[in-house]
Amino acid sequence: MIAAFEKELESQGLAGKVDLRATGCHGLCELGPNVVIYPEEIYYVHVKPEDVAEIVKETVQGKKVVDRLVYSDPASGEKAVHLSEIPFYKYQSRNLIGNNTRINPSSIDDYIGIGGYAALAKALFGMKPEQVLDEVKKANLRGRGGGGFPAGLKWETTRNAPEKEKYVIVNGHEGEPGAFMDRAVFTGNPHLVLEGLIIGAYAIGAHQGFIYTRHDSKLLKQNIDRALKQARENGLLGENILGSGFDFDVEVHFDVGIFVSGESSALMRSIEGKNPEPRPKYIRTSVSGIWDKPSNLNNVETWANVPQIIEKGAEWYTGIGTESSKGTKMISLSGNIVNSGVVEVPFGTTLRQIIFDIGGGIPGGKKLKALHFGGAMGGSIPESLIDTPLDFDALKKVGAPMGAGALMVMDEDTDMVEMARFFLTFLTNESCGKCVPCREGIQQLLKILTDICKGEGKKGDIETMEEIADVMSAASLCSLGKTATDPLRGTLKYFREEYETNIH
Ligand SMILES: Cc1cc2nc3c(=O)[nH]c(=O)nc-3n(C[C@H](O)[C@H](O)[C@H](O)COP(=O)(O)O)c2cc1C
Repeated sequence: MIAAFEKELESQGLAGKVDLRATGCHGLCELGPNVVIYPEEIYYVHVKPEDVAEIVKETVQGKKVVDRLVYSDPASGEKAVHLSEIPFYKYQSRNLIGNNTRINPSSIDDYIGIGGYAALAKALFGMKPEQVLDEVKKANLRGRGGGGFPAGLKWETTRNAPEKEKYVIVNGHEGEPGAFMDRAVFTGNPHLVLEGLIIGAYAIGAHQGFIYTRHDSKLLKQNIDRALKQARENGLLGENILGSGFDFDVEVHFDVGIFVSGESSALMRSIEGKNPEPRPKYIRTSVSGIWDKPSNLNNVETWANVPQIIEKGAEWYTGIGTESSKGTKMISLSGNIVNSGVVEVPFGTTLRQIIFDIGGGIPGGKKLKALHFGGAMGGSIPESLIDTPLDFDALKKVGAPMGAGALMVMDEDTDMVEMARFFLTFLTNESCGKCVPCREGIQQLLKILTDICKGEGKKGDIETMEEIADVMSAASLCSLGKTATDPLRGTLKYFREEYETNIH
């Protein structure tokens, strides 16, 4: 596609006059390849190389819209010419992913051109590390990797840990089934995450950072490697960054393709070159992590929030969101939904707005049955709770903890018992096997659930599953085992009659 545009711009005499940018994911990738023509912001979907000559002639040169390439609403058939008019985009606040449509991720100049690295300069030359830390604490930035733990408090623990040598780490593993927002922002705007990481390292007093990310995306790897190289060439990494006297560099490590390697202590073992097995939680990685040095781990999206907090201030940041959840959240929207893709909304947006206004509702005129957040360790809630706001605590309270932000939509035909079985099947393969409650518990639950799904369930099965789930939650070593039963518990809470019908 890019080659087709290059060729066509050349042949229509526009080479050097039109700035062509191969960008990352815009959000509505389902309708890709997408093409946006600025400054009008004309948005074309499902573009093919054979459409390129017409786009260049009609739109770039003639300022006319090619009607057949314009977005058309699947339900009403209504057309929208500009990106900001499309319902999927219109109701979002794209503070983090919005620049994906404007920059070429392989160009540091593009990132600098939209104000990139200004926050780093502000931190290095205008703020003491303690002030940076204070700003992040005041912003009440909560970790986006699942737990929602306040980033500032974690940074402070690592900063205050007695060992002199400290590390900062990006968790880019993104193993949660149905999650794809981290790779969208990391691939499409890698310098944003890197800038957040360097600012964090400065605040914490770390001189070595690690990026732990997916091994299975060539583009992601390529864009991260290139961003690191460019940052070094531009004095943004290495010794004496921008002449500030602060030294910091980053090493990239790839996951080994198993889910548990995204868990903090397992991830750190993996970086050390060992098996990614979790350790008990009483040893905090922020005090004793990689090679037993204080190590601060944050998710990709958590780091991506940092530059705007430093640039615009905590007061601006806390003006977005709810009392306990500040800023925006990126959501991977998938399942039985008209518009699937990466969505970014302020905390406080209701699930109804996400599903119907942005997602366009349920395809085929079917009814919404349930929403599932948080992948294999998350929970499902019924349609009746659709007015719950996107908020760490509100969602946890109703039984659908947000996890990293994978939101799966299920229509009226979904078998909830089968759904619980699906997640347990996934976890059977992913439990590292180190602790008995997780290793054996998941196997036993899966056996009972499989019998129930086959119509071979027995009276007392539900109670046995509940007992096993209680033991697993109390005695497993890490959150995988502790929360592996959450999809089961959620479906038992809200859809118990489906289990009973299957058994009886
Ligand atoms: C089994 C398991 C898998 C996890 N996978 C990820 C992951 O892929 N990405 C992530 O950011 N956090 C993951 N986590 C959470 C991390 O342990 C950790 O809490 C998080 O990276 C901290 O970053 P945050 O405070 O910015 O959220 C996982 C946790 C468990 C128990």
